Amino acid sequence: MDSNKIFQVVLVLLILKWNSVRSLTVDVMDYGAVGDGVTDDSQAFEKTWEAACGSSSGSAVFNVPKGKKFLLNPTKFQGPCKSPNLNFMMEGEIIAPNDISYWRSHYVPTWLTFEQVNGLVVNGNGLFDGQGAVWWKLVPDPCQRPTALGFSSCNNLELSGLTHINSPRNHISINLCTNVTVASLHITAPETSHNTDGIDIASSVNVQIHDCDIGTGDDCIAINSGCKYINITGVNCGPGHGISVGSLGMEGSVAEVEEIHVQHCTFSGTQNGARIKTWPGGSGFARNIVFQDITLVDAFNPIFIDQYYCFPGQPCQNQTSAVKVSDIWFNGFRGTSMSEAAVNLDCSKTVGCTQILLDHINITAGAQGMVVGSSCTNAYGRDSGSIPPVDCLLP
Ligand SMILES: *[C@@H]1O[C@H](CO)[C@@H](O)[C@H](O)[C@H]1NC(C)=O
Ligand SMILES: *[C@@H]1O[C@H](CO)[C@@H](O)[C@H](O)[C@H]1NC(C)=O
Ligand SMILES: *[C@@H]1O[C@H](CO)[C@@H](O)[C@H](O)[C@H]1NC(C)=O
Ligand SMILES: *[C@@H]1O[C@H](CO)[C@@H](O)[C@H](O)[C@H]1NC(C)=O
Repeated sequence: MDSNKIFQVVLVLLILKWNSVRSLTVDVMDYGAVGDGVTDDSQAFEKTWEAACGSSSGSAVFNVPKGKKFLLNPTKFQGPCKSPNLNFMMEGEIIAPNDISYWRSHYVPTWLTFEQVNGLVVNGNGLFDGQGAVWWKLVPDPCQRPTALGFSSCNNLELSGLTHINSPRNHISINLCTNVTVASLHITAPETSHNTDGIDIASSVNVQIHDCDIGTGDDCIAINSGCKYINITGVNCGPGHGISVGSLGMEGSVAEVEEIHVQHCTFSGTQNGARIKTWPGGSGFARNIVFQDITLVDAFNPIFIDQYYCFPGQPCQNQTSAVKVSDIWFNGFRGTSMSEAAVNLDCSKTVGCTQILLDHINITAGAQGMVVGSSCTNAYGRDSGSIPPVDCLLP
């Protein structure tokens, strides 16, 4: 090669290199978004997404500017994207349509979906408003109401700083993802809104959730089948139904959940605290689960293993199989209970719960004249001096 040729090759390589390290920023306002809270901005968001996701720069920023309110119909942000790092910078507000008729005739299970986007960061001080009130009123069946924000098959996902309110169903779902960090979220819906879970996780590995405030009408966080290595720290939960593993094993399904650590969390006025719930007739396991350093402020059912979880108001059918619950450690629970059974271990006759360990439990009555105790069937393990004592476990 002559020197001129070498020079040309080097130049091309430098341009490619420069392109792969530079960052591209695209703003929804540059793609025709209006941001008045009334105009449908879905198409502008889709076009902005095409630009961000199709960019081969080292990182791409999708900007949702502050001070604007964007009305979006159900929208999917589909990957895979060319850039290995995509930042959905959310400083503005995104609201769902208040008129559900359009939505119901083009039914999708999730309002805003991110699918197959690796290295996605969704952050900022922005707000997602699911406008759920109309759904709670008109659509009692939660299976016909959409989740607000869904992440599916997104590896190396980070979600932080945002506020999520009034989802029609659960606020956030994380499915089939690996390496996820969720931090500093505020999730709020009325206590009376049914099935408005904060965060639902399924089939995901290596998930860290920390420093979130979650108060809704259902579980603050639910950990479903296929989850392992989930750490939850510093979550203030209430009102709501607590932090739950499950429900697992519905309709005879196989469920597997393991290596779950919930620590340094507070349950205030919640219907449950630390809960594991499984359906009769399922199979599989829920094991190696730790709940520790938990503060209770007038929580109902602070510690609850329920192997007889069934549809509310319907009796459980007799079944011999159950999801096996074992190696569960409740360590360091203090505060007040509003139900008489502060510790409730309701395990199946045929399968039972094994290696259930209770340490440093001191749960007292949340109301005057109330006496707290425990209830325990078919649970095996050790109780080292809990207040209240748990009789069926060995000392
Ligand atoms: C998850 O993170 C670990 C450690 O940073 C890394 O080795 C692994 O490849 C990541 N997994 C995926 C699916 O990206
Ligand atoms: C998850 O929690 C466990 C138990 O506290 C801890 O040993 C582990 O380091 C945590 N993992 C991460 C990635 O923070
Ligand atoms: C379930 O089992 C209990 C006790 O073994 C029995 O009394 C009850 O009738 C059974 N219920 C059904 C629906 O089979
Ligand atoms: C249990 O908690 C109550 C209320 O905070 C407290 O008065 C009591 O001393 C505690 N008991 C033990 C053994 O720590």
